[in-house]
Amino acid sequence: MLEIGATEAESVQKRGFLDIYISPELNLEDEINKLRQDKNAVILAHYYQEAIIQDVADYVGDSLGLSQKAANTDADVIVFAGVHFMAETAKILNPNKKVLLPDLKAGCSLADSCPPSSFSTFVKSNPEHLVVTYINCSAEIKALSDIVCTSSNAIKIIESIPKDKPIIFAPDKNLGKYIISQTGRDMLLWDGACMVHEAFSIEKLISLYNEHPNSKIIAHPESEGHILNAANYIGSTAGMIDFVQIDSTEEFIVATEVGILHEMQKKVPHKKFIAAPSKENNTCACSECGYMRLNTLEKLYLCMKYETPAVAVDKSIQERALLPIERMLDISNRVLSD
Ligand code: 13P
Ligand code: SF4
Repeated sequence: MLEIGATEAESVQKRGFLDIYISPELNLEDEINKLRQDKNAVILAHYYQEAIIQDVADYVGDSLGLSQKAANTDADVIVFAGVHFMAETAKILNPNKKVLLPDLKAGCSLADSCPPSSFSTFVKSNPEHLVVTYINCSAEIKALSDIVCTSSNAIKIIESIPKDKPIIFAPDKNLGKYIISQTGRDMLLWDGACMVHEAFSIEKLISLYNEHPNSKIIAHPESEGHILNAANYIGSTAGMIDFVQIDSTEEFIVATEVGILHEMQKKVPHKKFIAAPSKENNTCACSECGYMRLNTLEKLYLCMKYETPAVAVDKSIQERALLPIERMLDISNRVLSD
């Protein structure tokens, strides 16, 4: 119900979407297209979003691609179909633009595993270390960092740092261990992890592979070491999507969030993709990220219509967090184009 003295939009911005009725007659894709034009909005979606959201987006990508798009967009409104740290990164890059996230509760277990107060103490007790943080962390953590990285540029970023410089890497210990194994750098690791990528079962993975001996196992580096040891290819979501197109194998077992299968299937419809099994019982959708799945097409439509919820970042944190993100974008543009 409309509050007296408030416009409909103001009222929704205050109380959220709770009691908003959406007519089943409404074609949400058409409505989203109209709103996108009227508001000069761009919809950026991560590969882990549900298929219908990926299909309505202007751009679907991995964390690096999404931050590059956010850094270069001339849209007035950025609608981020992903999780909070991604939308927050877009806001840090565009402090004067409105950045919308369909559900503000779309967080990240990995970002949550690195609370700013304890990370600040950790950094202060290792003052000679350069602080490299994986983009899956809060703005406060980025503000305590020297360089940010994503899973697709982490190795290049670490290799760009002089060999004698000690490094703290946070928050993902699995990605950290993988980078150490690839670069030989002895980094100090924060003890964080992603609950989706830690849910894969190596025993079930091996027996699934034995049922599909002609398949290849591909894995995201947020997965545990024993999963990575079993993998034929390790890479970011964008890297995995490239690999299944280039490699001649017809069947892949995919160890990352299951939403990625949509883009893989679109790119190479004749190939077969099987989601890697999780440790829990066989009915559990453990390889779905519950945070990513909080976004729905309905919430995407409502957030564009009412321009809420919008992501906010404190000005002093935004200014400090911008630098390490810009360093990452610079290094990516320079080194990755080599
Ligand atoms: P990338 O997008 O870098 O592949 O990372 C995956 C992820 O976990 C995002 O939350
Ligand atoms: Fe965070 Fe893991 Fe979900 Fe990615 S998949 S958003 S790292 S909880």
